[in-house]
Amino acid sequence: MLFSPYTIRDVTLKNRIVMSPMCMYACDREDGTVHNWHLIHYATRAVGQVGLIIVEATAVTPQGRISARDLGIWSDDHISGLHTLTTLVHEQGAKIGIQLAHAGRKATVSGEIIAPSPIPFDDNMRTPKEMTKTEIEETIHAFQQGARRAKEADFDVIEIHAAHGYLINEFLSPLTNKRTDEYGENRYRFLSEVIEAVKEVWDGPLFVRISAHDYHPDGLTVNDYIDYAQRMKAQGVDLIDVSSGAVVPAKIDAYPGYQVPFAETIRREANVPTGAVGLITSGLQAEEILRNGRADLVFIGRELLRNPYWPKTAANELGIQLEAPKPYVRGW
Ligand SMILES: Cc1cc2nc3c(=O)[nH]c(=O)nc-3n(C[C@H](O)[C@H](O)[C@H](O)COP(=O)(O)O)c2cc1C
Repeated sequence: MLFSPYTIRDVTLKNRIVMSPMCMYACDREDGTVHNWHLIHYATRAVGQVGLIIVEATAVTPQGRISARDLGIWSDDHISGLHTLTTLVHEQGAKIGIQLAHAGRKATVSGEIIAPSPIPFDDNMRTPKEMTKTEIEETIHAFQQGARRAKEADFDVIEIHAAHGYLINEFLSPLTNKRTDEYGENRYRFLSEVIEAVKEVWDGPLFVRISAHDYHPDGLTVNDYIDYAQRMKAQGVDLIDVSSGAVVPAKIDAYPGYQVPFAETIRREANVPTGAVGLITSGLQAEEILRNGRADLVFIGRELLRNPYWPKTAANELGIQLEAPKPYVRGW
């Protein structure tokens, strides 16, 4: 199944291998624009036969960057570099998505940082300012403008980053959202409004990445995310990319496939397609996840940093003849 196509709306992926979004912190000019590194890095994985590449967390506002070296999509000036990137990846037969992100209280850029509630992540991080209603509206608008620019740059998929303790995740979790207004009474409200705003300008495949477990006694678990996932599905989200943690400092027992049961539970209970991610490194492991109906797509992170030709490695393992990029036929 790993090498079978998968269609979402009008986009068909040639296989189920997704490159997980991974920050490169490679914007040396600190202006959020695509640099040569991004072009080389992502196009190499397209040559390596990844079906869908999801570009790293890309900031919808400068204030929402994890670091000053993040990619950005807060200005129309970002479109042309991103368009070059999508063109390169398309030329190599892969599809390309972008992860729209706002770091919230985990932003490390200079100046004021914002979050649902004024609670720092830990002692080393700054205390964020509690967002006003106006700031909430402006941020939702920034996600919408990011989606509009992603469309102009010819991306195939948009993934909203609602995981890892960044802004949207901070609204979802009771550990980080202590608001008493409508965004606290209904912690899903902010994400719901982001999704609606994005949908006004984007009708392509829409993914949301979640942290399905807070790893804290007072935090959310996968059971809470079944409900959230049902709401996302009702809003038209096509796939939930299921990660976990990083909302509050916590020790996580990570082992091969440790997050797969979350993807499986959400897929089954919310009846929505999911992506599995986390310490998935072999073709057999990926095939097992798909065949047992635990997820629809397999997201590969660090293994694709080590080996941009991982799809070829996985195909060998599964006894599948993967077509070579023409210039590489003699070495394949
Ligand atoms: C260098 C690096 C950067 C990452 N940046 C992001 C990111 O931008 N957005 C995101 O959702 N996850 C990010 N992650 C998490 C990965 O997408 C992935 O979920 C995680 O590494 C687990 O998968 P793996 O074991 O296959 O690496 C990053 C991970 C790494 C190693």
